[in-house]
Amino acid sequence: MKRTRQPAEPYRIKSVEPIKLLPRHLREEKIIQANYNVFKLDAPDIYIDLLTDSGTSAMSIKQWAALMLGDESYAGSTSFRNFERVVKDIFRKEYVIPCHQGRAAEHLLFSVLDTKGKYVLNNTHFDTTKGNTQHKQGIPVDFPCAESMSAEPLPFKGNMDIEKFEQFVAEHGAGKIPLVLMTITNNSVGGQPVSMKNIKEVSEICYRNKLPFFIDSARFAENCFFIKKNEAGYAQKPIKEIAQELFKQCDGVLMSAKKDGLANIGGFLALNDEKLYQQLTELMVIIEGFPTYGGLAGRDMEILAVGLEEVLDYDYLDFRVDQVRYFGEKLIEKGMPIVEPTGGNAVFIDAGKFLPHIPAEQFPGQSLAVEFYREGGIRSAEIGSLMLGGIDPNTGENLMAARELVRLALPRRVYTNSHFDYVAEVADRIVSNKEHLKGYKIKRAPEILRHFTCDLQPAEAVMSPVG
Ligand code: F0G
Repeated sequence: MKRTRQPAEPYRIKSVEPIKLLPRHLREEKIIQANYNVFKLDAPDIYIDLLTDSGTSAMSIKQWAALMLGDESYAGSTSFRNFERVVKDIFRKEYVIPCHQGRAAEHLLFSVLDTKGKYVLNNTHFDTTKGNTQHKQGIPVDFPCAESMSAEPLPFKGNMDIEKFEQFVAEHGAGKIPLVLMTITNNSVGGQPVSMKNIKEVSEICYRNKLPFFIDSARFAENCFFIKKNEAGYAQKPIKEIAQELFKQCDGVLMSAKKDGLANIGGFLALNDEKLYQQLTELMVIIEGFPTYGGLAGRDMEILAVGLEEVLDYDYLDFRVDQVRYFGEKLIEKGMPIVEPTGGNAVFIDAGKFLPHIPAEQFPGQSLAVEFYREGGIRSAEIGSLMLGGIDPNTGENLMAARELVRLALPRRVYTNSHFDYVAEVADRIVSNKEHLKGYKIKRAPEILRHFTCDLQPAEAVMSPVG
């Protein structure tokens, strides 16, 4: 990718939030109290929080000003109209349904679609999309492209495997497929982007087979930036026009606006089908809120109306994507294998490769995530067999992830490059001590989305004798 590196952050800091590094002995205590699950740590006990880029953005002066303009009327607020106007403009859909976050939009959609015993196809389901499909007895099927697993730094590793997807559609028929989704960028394969060409191909197959096609758009602006940089024919096109062209290809949009909405909460559904819109708005009144606010306050919608425009700014995206690259290169220098090229929102370390002495059953990704906290007060997230594995509720099969990854997600506009230099120093210390890292086993776990709340213990721990 041609670099147009910004000299430094394209913003200056107006308001600061102190952070503190606890001494090592306290970090050791905290992670034991959290049962080795980083989701159970308290935020003040963390120095650099790279758990997620979701809902963690810093707002701009325009967004803080917009907050004060929030119209909190129950119905027909000005803030909803502002939000609706911006969403319609970018996402090119007739109807806009605000929701409190992405999974609420998923819950609504899966509640009205007939998914029981049927297939929901995706390039790769994110965990809540998979959870919502299974919750309604649907069967999530992923078609990541073959390149997604390649070590080559290819530009569009998030793509759908068109051949396998088309073959599945031909085998099972439209009656068994209530929904096709595309996740941009493709979070679960390393935050990798999807090309416009691939989206158009999927769209065309859906159109021919009369399959509803939705885009899971949480990181749509970052995806559009990669299209501009790396796909022929888009270099001169403004990001907004690329987004408009992209969303014309689909019937509907599922959005977690906690990412590329540059907001701390929010989401929406946008679609063209009037009948589906009626069904969704009838249901949302009892589970999410009146159709002109969903689960949001007026001020949240005002903030989103500004954030969705700001995120399309070229300088912002250029710095954002370059910061992820900068951080990734630092980790490689220190000897950590990462998914290459870096995507738009996170650096993914291949913990399976990094810790070959820990078997997948003992969660090498979790071992590394725990070590980042112990060594440097840094929080990251395992995206491997702890998150994606488990017992398949439909088949009873014990699933393992294709790769044991650890995601270090970059909150938007929050940390400077010197924070990432510090994380790289911690990585350096972990590299020199890697033989001593141990695996973990599950002590207790819920059935769905177990990684959020499960308790773990070191795999070789000897249980104290009873009595
Ligand atoms: N779709 C994708 C691709 C996501 O990454 C997420 C959330 C959701 C849907 C659900 O949205 O959180 O607003 O309910 N991803 C977060 C993450 C949690 O850390 O990657 P939500």
